[in-house]
Amino acid sequence: MAGTADIVLSPDPRLKEECAPITEITPEVRALAERMLEDMYAADGCGLAAPQVGELVQLVVIDVDWGAGDKNPYVLINPRIVESSEETRTFEEGCLSFPGITVEVERPVGVVVHAENLDGDTMRYEASDNLLAVCLQHEIDHLHGVTMVDHLPLLKRMGKLREVERAIVAGARPGETSLD
Ligand code: NI
Repeated sequence: MAGTADIVLSPDPRLKEECAPITEITPEVRALAERMLEDMYAADGCGLAAPQVGELVQLVVIDVDWGAGDKNPYVLINPRIVESSEETRTFEEGCLSFPGITVEVERPVGVVVHAENLDGDTMRYEASDNLLAVCLQHEIDHLHGVTMVDHLPLLKRMGKLREVERAIVAGARPGETSLD
C-alpha cells in the first residue's frame, strides 16, 4: 500500500543492507517504481530508494522539480557514480527514513551517474552544485546500506540517532524535518 506509512524508518536494519542489482525489468520492478513515486510525493520528498520501502534492490526515484509544482520523475535502475568532483560542499540534508532531523553532509559538488531507465536504456545524469547532485549521491548511498548519518563522526551520529528516535516517539512522520 503506497503512502507515507509504507516508508521504513530508522533504525530498521533494512536501511543498512547492500541492495541487489536489478537484472530484468519485470512488471514487479515497474510496480515498485510506481509505488515509490507515490510514497515520495505523498511525503513531499525529492528522492526515495527501494530499501526505504523495504525492497533490497537497486532502484531509486528522484524528482527535484516537485517542490516547484511540476512533476518530473526520474527512475534510476542500478545507478552508479562514474565521476565525482574533487571539490566538496556541505549541504543540509533530510531523509524520509529519518523524520525530525536534518544533517550537514559534505559531499563532492558534482557527479556523473549512469543508470538504466524503465525501458532498459542506459541514461547519463550530470549534476553539479545543485539539489540533484546531492540527491543522486544520497539515494545511491541508500543502495549500499549508507544513510546520511553515516557521514557524521560517531558521537554526532549517535546524537542524531537519538534525536530521530525521540522525534518518532513524538509522532514525527516521513518528510518532517524540523530543526527544533
Ligand atoms: Ni534518504
